[in-house]
Amino acid sequence: MSLLELEDVSASYGYAPVLHGISFGLEANRAEGILGANGAGKTTTLRAISGMVPATGRIRFDGVDILGKSPDRIARMGIAHVPEGRGTLGGLSVRDNLRIGAYQRKDRKQIDEHIEFCLDLFPNLRERISSNASALSGGEQQMLAVARAFMAQPRVILLDEASLGLAPSTAQRVYDAIRRLQTETGVAMVVVEQNASLAFSVVDHALVLETGRVSIEGPKESLMGMDEVRRAYLGG
Ligand SMILES: Nc1ncnc2c1ncn2[C@@H]1O[C@H](COP(=O)(O)OP(=O)(O)OP(=O)(O)O)[C@@H](O)[C@H]1O
Ligand SMILES: [Mg+2]
Repeated sequence: MSLLELEDVSASYGYAPVLHGISFGLEANRAEGILGANGAGKTTTLRAISGMVPATGRIRFDGVDILGKSPDRIARMGIAHVPEGRGTLGGLSVRDNLRIGAYQRKDRKQIDEHIEFCLDLFPNLRERISSNASALSGGEQQMLAVARAFMAQPRVILLDEASLGLAPSTAQRVYDAIRRLQTETGVAMVVVEQNASLAFSVVDHALVLETGRVSIEGPKESLMGMDEVRRAYLGG
């Protein structure tokens, strides 16, 4: 049984159907990539998992049906969503953003250890620990958004286009840290990216969405060998 399992999931905004029967599974300790062009339905897939858009079909987390549960409930069950556009709390310091990520936890001592872990993972954040999140660069805000999600100690992190709007070298640094986070903690991830080479630096398996349907899926090595994937998502 997969840790997270989508079966025939469809979703629409009002009367406009966007997802048409998506199925995939995510195993514990693994990372699954979702590639696809603008408007393919990548963000909507993550929103369906975290309960932010109504969907039909079946979504199971650790064997429990979560479709129809509230976003808050799903988050408390252990699914953290790092949205497009990051969603850090601009008026609060880096440290307070990290603490708020852990607000449901009681293990005070471990919380401090996990903040230290995040600051080792993202040294930029250590330098800016007392700065307001709104004063951070785009790359630093992205780092903070990922670190804050980790502070909830989720079992799955849903990551939406963490490279968006970042210079290539910054995006690479963000993804290097995401890979370390995944391999060192074993947290499962769904990594949505238009930049396939960044996604492939973290995931071992991926699917391609085309207008709300899964068009290709497989181990990253086989996707990297496909002409259509190389042309559309690997820049040649
Ligand atoms: N809030 C909304 N209301 C109505 N339609 C929406 C809404 N959000 C997205 N859509 C439509 O749903 C489709 C899928 O959008 P979605 O955001 O899931 O795509 P995406 O793959 O994440 O694209 P991008 O790479 O641009 O982020 C698009 O046609 C989009 O216009
Ligand atoms: Mg999107």
